Amino acid sequence: MKSIAVQVTNYQALPDERGHFGIYGGRYVPEMLFPALEELEAAYLEAKKDPAFHKELNDLYTHYSGRPTPLYFCSNLSRQLQGAKIYVKNEGLNHTGAHKINHCLGQALLAKRMGKRRIIAETGAGQHGLASATVAAKFGFQCVIYMGEVDVARQRPNVFWMERLGAEVRPVTFGNKTLTDAVNAALKDWIENVRDTYYLLGSAVGPHPYPTIVRDFQSVVGREVRKQLQEQEGRLPDYIIACVGGGSNAMGIFYEFLNEEKVHLIGVEAGGRGIRPGEHAARFQGGRLGVVEGFKSFFLQDEDGQIMKTHSVSAGLDYAGVGPEISYLWESGRVQASYATDEEALEALQVLIRTEGIIPALESAHAVAEAIKLAPKLDRDKIIVVNLSGRGDKDIFIIAEALKDIKWQEFLKSKVNHPEHVT
Ligand SMILES: Cc1ncc(COP(=O)(O)O)c(C=O)c1O
Repeated sequence: MKSIAVQVTNYQALPDERGHFGIYGGRYVPEMLFPALEELEAAYLEAKKDPAFHKELNDLYTHYSGRPTPLYFCSNLSRQLQGAKIYVKNEGLNHTGAHKINHCLGQALLAKRMGKRRIIAETGAGQHGLASATVAAKFGFQCVIYMGEVDVARQRPNVFWMERLGAEVRPVTFGNKTLTDAVNAALKDWIENVRDTYYLLGSAVGPHPYPTIVRDFQSVVGREVRKQLQEQEGRLPDYIIACVGGGSNAMGIFYEFLNEEKVHLIGVEAGGRGIRPGEHAARFQGGRLGVVEGFKSFFLQDEDGQIMKTHSVSAGLDYAGVGPEISYLWESGRVQASYATDEEALEALQVLIRTEGIIPALESAHAVAEAIKLAPKLDRDKIIVVNLSGRGDKDIFIIAEALKDIKWQEFLKSKVNHPEHVT
């Protein structure tokens, strides 16, 4: 439960030197991981000061990933809703289709700098796994991706490409077989292979310094939004909306605006089939303080403190925990938490496709759903920016099934029934 509205003068000043955002965050790991996290922190602080590091990263952002991504005014959608102007920051146009490439490029450069030869990563929707496998191919790292068995099944297109890129995808068969379990498997691998392995974490979660590293690499998104909206509208946005799995795309777009008090920041979680135990992944609707996977934050837990089953149509939001900085910002009243159900996200996805010709990832569709609810309540001179964290290519199987698309089902059957085409 939310307890306090804190008076804060500089939201960008955290974490403290021990990696805490208020009471959240920190480093709660087995002792043998401490040297690895300290080595990482030292390498990151050094890289952060090095202009050559920033130059290499910015070159990759521009020439490899395609930054800056467009900030696009959705004139048709805004007209249809008869309210605020809706802009989308189209991170889906990045190389590999989502914002995840931002922190993967940064961390790959860091791993190279640290002399590591092997990368491990966890993934839910597969976008982080895909981006990790991509940078591993580019920089010549050996690569292992941990992915829950359930996610392997529902995100097959990404698994296919990760394997083509040369990564080994290891299905995780314990627990719920989703993202939380993949994180645990990756941590176990890291403990065993810490010397030559870089753990390329996929969201603003985990033990210090990961939430800060991921946030910093992602904050390019918010910096671009400020500049682009200044050019297009000559001012700041009134609302910024982002979906929240672990918190990387949300922190990426929010961070630049944390001290701009007039800019409302809304994080949208997965309401799944509704806010009942085990049916959703909305940590701020019933999550409790806990220490899991090396950091303190909100987690969906049962009465005994065990991690609860979660559900979301989008694999990338189907996660029992949330990043420590978002937790802190929510408790201090700076970020407002909302949620969209599976049904609302699927509806929003279709609305955006039909009005603007943009196919968002299912994760991002949750943020679009919130914009669709909010815009009609606002005056037409107000501006909403939605972080479109990814594009929907990877979700074609889930969406076609959810929409009961008969032609797609026939297409799949025809592929299975004619195995000679596969040889
Ligand atoms: C397209 C997309 N958006 C959002 C997310 C959620 O992660 P985060 O909250 O770290 O941005 C994911 C995670 O896989 C994703 O693939």
